[in-house]
Amino acid sequence: MEPQKSKVVVVDDDPIVLRAVGEILRRDGYEVTALQDPTEALAIVKDTTIDVVVSDIKMPHLSGLELLRAFKDAQPDVEVIIMTGHATVETAVEAVKAGAYDYLTKPFERIENFSLAVQKAVERRTLKKRALALEQALDHRAEFEGIVGQSAQMRAVFKTVETVGPTMATVLIQGESGTGKELVARAIHDRSPRRDRPYVAVNCSALSETLLDSELFGHVKGAFTGALGNKKGLFEAAHGGTIFLDEIGDVPPATQVRLLRVLQEGKVKRVGANEEISVDTRVIAATNVDLAKAKAEGRFREDLYYRLNVIQLSLPPLRDRADDVPLLAHHFARRYAERMGKKLEGFTVEAMSALTLHTWPGNVRELENAIERAVVMTAGPKIDIADLPREVTETKGPARTQVDLTSLVHLPFAQAKALTIRAFEARYLTTLLERTGGNITQAALAAGMDRSNFRRLLKEHGLAGRGHNDPEPA
Ligand SMILES: Nc1ncnc2c1ncn2[C@@H]1O[C@H](COP(=O)(O)OP(=O)(O)OP(=O)(O)O)[C@@H](O)[C@H]1O
Ligand SMILES: [Mg+2]
Repeated sequence: MEPQKSKVVVVDDDPIVLRAVGEILRRDGYEVTALQDPTEALAIVKDTTIDVVVSDIKMPHLSGLELLRAFKDAQPDVEVIIMTGHATVETAVEAVKAGAYDYLTKPFERIENFSLAVQKAVERRTLKKRALALEQALDHRAEFEGIVGQSAQMRAVFKTVETVGPTMATVLIQGESGTGKELVARAIHDRSPRRDRPYVAVNCSALSETLLDSELFGHVKGAFTGALGNKKGLFEAAHGGTIFLDEIGDVPPATQVRLLRVLQEGKVKRVGANEEISVDTRVIAATNVDLAKAKAEGRFREDLYYRLNVIQLSLPPLRDRADDVPLLAHHFARRYAERMGKKLEGFTVEAMSALTLHTWPGNVRELENAIERAVVMTAGPKIDIADLPREVTETKGPARTQVDLTSLVHLPFAQAKALTIRAFEARYLTTLLERTGGNITQAALAAGMDRSNFRRLLKEHGLAGRGHNDPEPA
């Protein structure tokens, strides 16, 4: 295919100039539209594929500035070159100050200069277009540093990672188990200038208090029974790089004090040592418990909480971003099929709708495991509902009360409708039970439904109310 010609519009009320300029530009390889009437030009410039306008400044009833403004209003990204006679150079300069790309005085002394000015304007326009395309591509990207997602929530996460990555800022990542906290921590490190320096991950809940202290800060010989020699801690090991403190909510109080000291002063003291060592280690922490609550209940130091919580990044549970489910499912199916050397063609409609309906209490990890298992089980070529774990296909628990239209369009109409009805039912029932204080008889009456049918519906949605013979809730 021939490369697309750049488009230039020439405007001049003098037909001789118009013809001459048009000819030069055609010779230079542009697709040229030559017009005598500026209003006609304004209409044409609305077409966003126009790259450059070369226009005479002395138009009837329009000043140079007004003309420029009119072109830019019609299409903000178009580059405008003004042609001017000697008498109007001042207005032309004004127009350039106001955003015109350049101005040229007529008659042209050298055709080459004219050609060059247009060429540069076209280049600039092309660059701007490319930058825009890149930006849009990032907006629509479904994957970022190995993190897959296209929901608005995940796009916001990508943006935050991109913004805070290059800084030294301490980041606190919150999210339920399996939502991708570790993946995001790694992505932040990989987006930072420290990417070639160490990245050290520590699971703070897996170690006893003594061991955790010694792991994080090191120890000197004889600091405690079993400390046979001097040992460097992980903060020192991660010097120049990043330390990832996973399950930060489980850190015991004494260790919290030590952590505070590193965050405030950049200094660690090995267990049993007297002198401090300076470290330059970036801290990323993660938790799947509500740290603000732990703080309020006195289990987590307030000062440490604020030191950690400089930037907070919340990873939403998978049930709140159903649009990511099909994308992640395909991502994992491809990955595991490749690993196992199986040829697969995605999912049957039933399998995909079961995946979309499930509420994923174990979040992305649960989905990943389900797909890995399905890839093993399936006879192919498509993963079918029978290949999925029972918990996934028999979703009973609390249904989603909200479904997003953007996720629904991944499904065939019938499934999308079923999903929407289910969500509606859940919302209706929950609200109704709230209004009747959980009284099923009243709720069934208000719904105009038979009591036993109403009960069955509640059960399907994993909702409980109380009948009039049931005891009052405690
Ligand atoms: N958005 C995602 N795109 C691709 N893979 C993901 C995504 N989110 C999570 N995963 C994968 O799911 C699994 C669980 O993620 P991860 O270990 O980061 O979760 P976590 O939030 O740290 O969970 P936990 O609190 O249980 O430690 C990993 O295998 C990870 O690669
Ligand atoms: Mg984790």
